[in-house]
Amino acid sequence: MCESLKSEKGNKPFSFNTLELYQGGVMITTEEALNLVKKNVAKRNIVYHMLAVEAIMRSLAKHFGDDEHLWELTGLLHDIDYEKTESTPEKHGVVAEEILKGLVPDELIKAIKAHSFQYSHVKPETRMEKALIACDAVSGLLVACALVMPSKKLADVKVETVLKKFKDKDFARGASRKRILLCEEIGIPKEEFFEIALNGLKNVSKEIGL
Ligand SMILES: [Fe+2]
Repeated sequence: MCESLKSEKGNKPFSFNTLELYQGGVMITTEEALNLVKKNVAKRNIVYHMLAVEAIMRSLAKHFGDDEHLWELTGLLHDIDYEKTESTPEKHGVVAEEILKGLVPDELIKAIKAHSFQYSHVKPETRMEKALIACDAVSGLLVACALVMPSKKLADVKVETVLKKFKDKDFARGASRKRILLCEEIGIPKEEFFEIALNGLKNVSKEIGL
């Protein structure tokens, strides 16, 4: 847990700008979450990746009429332990829980652990848990699509471009097609998912240098 967010008496976070009762738990603000990310993640490309997943999750929550703040923070914080677990991937998600416990609702932490289910053995079950996995994977595909544009800009990427690149198994191989297709398990055909994700990502193109 972030030292600066601890109170003197223990793990309870400062309450001056924290929503104390958020679905029966606590929830930090977006600004506090970003500070926590910067404290735990040094590499700019990983911070950009987390900002990208935040934007796509927000776009998807809006589509579902779901809790945008909960979903965007889940995206923003999902790889907070990435650098700390690079040499111990089996702890990916577990260390995130240690950092975030008491600062965010349990369902956010469970979604983060479920996104690294191959290590945590926490099965993705809810809509938000499956969405995080699909958004994480599609962010890599969308960024790769932007980088092969002559302009290297997201603004020039169309849904048709993404569909074409999705079918090309040798393109952006790290962006798991199987994980992306979890969108269909939460009721969104991949064409529509690409449109929602692309629009969400374009909202933060400047912040992520694309
Ligand atoms: Fe990720």
